[in-house]
Amino acid sequence: MDLGLDNKIVVLTGAAGGIGRELASGFAAHGAQVVGVDLASLDDVDLNLRVHIDLADPDSIRQGCRTIRDHCPKVDVVVNNAALYGGLKMTPLQGLDLQEWDRVMAVNVRGAYLMVRELLQPLIESRGAIVNLASASALRGSPMMLHYVASKGALIAMTRALATELGHHGVRVNAVAPGLVDDAASQGLGEAFERVLQSTVAQQSIPVRLEAGEVVGTVLFLASQWSSAVTGQTIPVDRGLVKS
Ligand SMILES: NC(=O)c1ccc[n+]([C@@H]2O[C@H](COP(=O)([O-])OP(=O)(O)OC[C@H]3O[C@@H](n4cnc5c(N)ncnc54)[C@H](O)[C@@H]3O)[C@@H](O)[C@H]2O)c1
Repeated sequence: MDLGLDNKIVVLTGAAGGIGRELASGFAAHGAQVVGVDLASLDDVDLNLRVHIDLADPDSIRQGCRTIRDHCPKVDVVVNNAALYGGLKMTPLQGLDLQEWDRVMAVNVRGAYLMVRELLQPLIESRGAIVNLASASALRGSPMMLHYVASKGALIAMTRALATELGHHGVRVNAVAPGLVDDAASQGLGEAFERVLQSTVAQQSIPVRLEAGEVVGTVLFLASQWSSAVTGQTIPVDRGLVKS
């Protein structure tokens, strides 16, 4: 299927991560040129351009986005995929420390906002698309990860708000909300992970573990002209975990 992504320039944050790598190869397979952004090494990810940005640091975002604008004739798509997730420990709310709360909000919410702000002009020029990686945990509630879940809820609200603000420029803004993926990032949540995974899978309409690669199709759809009339929406990609 031709998604019309040939020669589109896609800026993908978190390209070194589990879902990020799958997204990078999915976009590349459809002819897009992928600019990978991450704090971690991108050396072993197949990308057209590698840009190191610490999304917790506004100066780093400003400098990295300048590099992107200097090297790329245009920007068609921004995928805000990076997040603090895998390294977080599942903690009851009494145990969450404030610095950790602020760190998660800074990367997961403010980082996405600043990426869009810094790349807004080229996005408007190409009447582009933004796709945010939210989480099913924010649509249904999920215990022991209040900071993370709140950050993904903010991203869903930001998706709606940005869609109304950027629509008259022809820029679409959507999100995908993956369920719990059985990957290294999720396993990093600690010893509770296997128990949570089993109970999550049992609640899915299709009770089979979700894989990172299964998130790709919906992101590509939302980045492509096949979704030209879709904006402000969050699509769960979760084998039927979220029921409404
Ligand atoms: N894996 C899941 O089960 C799951 C479920 C729902 C939503 N998600 C979301 O999907 C997205 C991808 O998740 P993943 O499973 O690939 O996680 P991951 O931890 O494998 O990847 C996240 C990437 O973000 C990068 N990153 C973290 N902090 C950064 C910073 N300050 N600056 C720049 N980059 C930074 C990491 O280096 C990593 O490469 C995330 O937004 C996550 O919240 C994941």
